[in-house]
Amino acid sequence: MIRTTNLFRLVLRIRYDDPTATFHLGEKFGAYPEDAKQLLAVARYLDPNVIGVSFHIGSSRGHNPDLNAFHGAIIAARTVFDEADDLGFHFTLLDIGGGFCGNKGATLYEVGAVINDVLDRYFPETNIDVIAEPGQYYVNSAFTLITQVHTKKVLNGQEIARMYFTDVSVYNSMIDVVFKVPFDMTPVKNRKPNSRKLPSIVWGATCCSNDKISGDIIYLPELYIGDWLMIHDIGAYSISISSDFNGFPLPNVHAFIRKDDWVYLTEKIEQPVPKEKFVFGDSTDKYLLTGLTLPSRYTTNYF
Ligand SMILES: Cc1ncc(COP(=O)(O)O)c(C=O)c1O
Repeated sequence: MIRTTNLFRLVLRIRYDDPTATFHLGEKFGAYPEDAKQLLAVARYLDPNVIGVSFHIGSSRGHNPDLNAFHGAIIAARTVFDEADDLGFHFTLLDIGGGFCGNKGATLYEVGAVINDVLDRYFPETNIDVIAEPGQYYVNSAFTLITQVHTKKVLNGQEIARMYFTDVSVYNSMIDVVFKVPFDMTPVKNRKPNSRKLPSIVWGATCCSNDKISGDIIYLPELYIGDWLMIHDIGAYSISISSDFNGFPLPNVHAFIRKDDWVYLTEKIEQPVPKEKFVFGDSTDKYLLTGLTLPSRYTTNYF
């Protein structure tokens, strides 16, 4: 054991699970709060440079975390702070982790109000830094995956009416599908807006029979070969965990920006961002509908 006193400051991660989470990080990381006192006693002896508590209640996709879990986790952290105090530590950091929904339209207001309320009650001290580790919150809605239907199968008299084949894959960009994360998919252009939606499966490009990017049966309007399909809120844990399995390359990334955001950025950033790196427009859908100057047919594109 290396004494880290002058090298690092340590944080004790406790486990407190959100039962509604898609990914239960507590299965792998974190000590049960009831074991914290014993661990701290050992730490006191080995290395007294523990400065606080962290937790991550779990990572959900598509919905905000269970507010009771945040409530309970902060109270559990308070108990650990008090136990640490009894042992002679002076904790100054509380890290409340991530798990905040980053989908389009999601806000932090409700979850922030609960967290602030519990913090006010249980951590009134002003010398404690409270930090969070938002991941998907920042990036999920920033990316939309766009792929083209290149093949179609029409099934009659069966539970599934249509199968569409695309060049995107669970391996090159949609690994979350394997973990049962549902994605919202909509055609860029709905040719017949009032037409009936049909039970459909959308397949990925690889030879793998689990490469079913719709996850399950989804209801889509009739699509035709060459139609573009948008897969929303794909910014988190997508191309960062991708591979070119089966020879399918990772999707191209196009930075899409509104004109006024561009002006704002160029005013704020010292080094001007090269204009040619961006696609300009009011909205991705509008750009695709009007311009349709996507780089090439049958190429998967991120916006
Ligand atoms: C330690 C830690 N902090 C923060 C995050 C971000 O979580 P989220 O994307 O749910 O906000 C993760 C995700 O796995 C994590 O492991």
